[in-house]
Amino acid sequence: MSISVSTPPSVAFLNGQFSAENVIKKVTRSGDLRGVFHDGDSWQAISPETPIYEVEMLRSPQGEGELYAGVTHLQPGRVGDEFYMTRGHFHQRREQGEVYFGLKGAGLLLLQDEKGDARLERVSPGSVHIIPGFSAHRLINTGNEILSALAVWPSIAGHDYASLTQGFALRVVERGGKVQVREVQNG
Ligand code: PA5
Ligand code: NI
Repeated sequence: MSISVSTPPSVAFLNGQFSAENVIKKVTRSGDLRGVFHDGDSWQAISPETPIYEVEMLRSPQGEGELYAGVTHLQPGRVGDEFYMTRGHFHQRREQGEVYFGLKGAGLLLLQDEKGDARLERVSPGSVHIIPGFSAHRLINTGNEILSALAVWPSIAGHDYASLTQGFALRVVERGGKVQVREVQNG
């Protein structure tokens, strides 16, 4: 009997890069994030071409029981006083969860349930985050270097951006050189 041992894709902890060939890459630029940052004037002042984050995804089969794996690389920086962050989403299939692993950099994972209750988890190299079903999630880079995190999620989960029109209940800003979390009424 011949047993095959294959080499799977790997992720380099030092820079968060996938080693796999044929990785799918999607860059999200400032211009794609209209209405996401609270300071619209500061958002307009930066070039819409400014890259904010890139997601590298492995090509995986789709369907019930299949999993996607992707690394998000979120740039350091701010729009006005607000740290760069991902758009954030619920899953279309609300009951589906996800796991994030911090690889590089320093930041926060913002989680919010369907009632609008929000909480934060610190993201750092090696941190493990279980995102339960029915939870919107967003990465925020509060550090000075790229924040990279690996995500694994069911391929059937889907992304629902539209249901967050009210936004998240918390915003993370810089005040006097410190990271400050602000509660907001309407996103
Ligand atoms: O599946 C995930 O939760 C991540 O891969 C995100 O899609 C990624 O971080 C980009 O964020 P968003 O989809 O909110 O733009
Ligand atoms: Ni997700």
